[in-house]
Amino acid sequence: MRLICAKNYQDMSRKAANLISAQVILCPESVLGLATGSTPIGIYRQLISWYEKGDVDFSKAVSINLDEYCGLSPRDTQSYSCFMHQNFFDHINIDPRRVYLPDGMQTNSTLECARYDRVIADNGGIDLQLLGIGRNAHIGFNEPDSCFACGTHQVTLTESTIAANTRFFENEAQVPRQAYSMGMQAIMQAKRVLLIASGADKAEAIRNSFFGPVTPQVPASILQLHRDVIVIADEAALADCPAEA
Ligand code: F6R
Repeated sequence: MRLICAKNYQDMSRKAANLISAQVILCPESVLGLATGSTPIGIYRQLISWYEKGDVDFSKAVSINLDEYCGLSPRDTQSYSCFMHQNFFDHINIDPRRVYLPDGMQTNSTLECARYDRVIADNGGIDLQLLGIGRNAHIGFNEPDSCFACGTHQVTLTESTIAANTRFFENEAQVPRQAYSMGMQAIMQAKRVLLIASGADKAEAIRNSFFGPVTPQVPASILQLHRDVIVIADEAALADCPAEA
């Protein structure tokens, strides 16, 4: 693991955007695994600005998102599909036919999970996987559990995740209770993983994930076994890490 300490959120966003931009410049057909949530927004803004200046071209890139809420259509403003369009896809030249998210409206979870795993396989796997991290150390919606989930699966969100995500909804009752999430296999098979974290509320998750035992109770800890993980975190998110880190 390479741990990069950023001064603050802006610095974290810029450093991470640099790596994503370099990936796409070096390999225009890159398959990007992308994330939603508050943390990547600064990265997407930075990439949009570099795209507008002509520095990076997404026309041949593929995007495969980590997750989607069950029961929300892509047009629902709370869906992750809508989030990605509003915050990124609508502002760059990515081909809409190369943009993939789980279908939250598919009620047959077996079919949907198999379809999404096929999407990942048909695109040859992920070149660069961007990950945020939950306060409980979830990645995607791989929540703390007694084992690591391998393929795409339907998840029942934990109370802690529902509480954390309530800020995006009018009230807690509106937060969907289930989601589809990419599993650990696709994440672990990604050629490179870039995990970003900002703020004191992520400090415990970062410490437990990268400086504690590998356990499904701390989902991001599995990344200790990945051969190419870059963690870019700001000072607040690194505050609980051992001094020698
Ligand atoms: C989102 C996702 C989640 C978030 C995590 C952190 O696609 O997969 O794992 O990355 O919940 O969210 P923020 O960035 O809002 O703190």
